[in-house]
Amino acid sequence: MADNYLGRKMEEYEAQKCASVRTRRVSLASLLAKNRSTRGFDTSFKVRKDQLVSLVEAARLAPSAMNQQVLRYRLVTEEEAHLLLPHIRMGAALPELKLPLEGTEPNAFVVICTDKESRYVDMDMGIATQTMLLRAVEMGLNGICIAAFDHEAVREALHLPLAPQLILAIGRSTERIEVVDIAEGESTTYYRKNGTHFVPKVKVEDLIIK
Ligand SMILES: Cc1cc2nc3c(=O)[nH]c(=O)nc-3n(C[C@H](O)[C@H](O)[C@H](O)COP(=O)(O)O)c2cc1C
Repeated sequence: MADNYLGRKMEEYEAQKCASVRTRRVSLASLLAKNRSTRGFDTSFKVRKDQLVSLVEAARLAPSAMNQQVLRYRLVTEEEAHLLLPHIRMGAALPELKLPLEGTEPNAFVVICTDKESRYVDMDMGIATQTMLLRAVEMGLNGICIAAFDHEAVREALHLPLAPQLILAIGRSTERIEVVDIAEGESTTYYRKNGTHFVPKVKVEDLIIK
């Protein structure tokens, strides 16, 4: 216990800081809700290398079939983004928009790589990817999985020693995105109306097999 005025003030300040960290804890439900695939980013916001490293730290703790941990990650920040951008494709359901719109391109990526072939690779990749996306949302960022890319061109551009399998684009979102409930059999195609991107999701009752 500090016996002087400044010391006591400092202790109070530290206690308040701890309390505010506790109350700012975010729920999984809110992370999941904010974790929408994002195709438009604030280009003035530069994602730092250490932020990408913390995504890999999260993926490292994800489950892995037989704990083989076959995935490796190549981090790409602003300086190298131009090497990837020409080879990725976004928003196949909205070809007329040519996403990402000019001036909203992502400037950071995690390229998930492996040379291993097994039925478990894609399962590991899905779990690792969602783990990284949720971590990104927790940091106030957003992302998107990109499977539509020129694999050979990306491998060459980044001199990758392993085959690139999936790319995560990461950044600060500029998009307004909403989830819409749909029933079994209704269109699952995402769409845009008045500047909002709508993502149809099948209702829980229709997801559960009766
Ligand atoms: C494995 C995988 C690959 C994807 N590849 C692409 C892609 O190449 N380009 C793209 O624009 N979106 C891609 N997406 C994003 C999906 O379109 C998106 O997840 C879907 O529209 C649902 O939106 P939500 O993620 O906001 O729920 C991919 C998603 C997954 C899971």
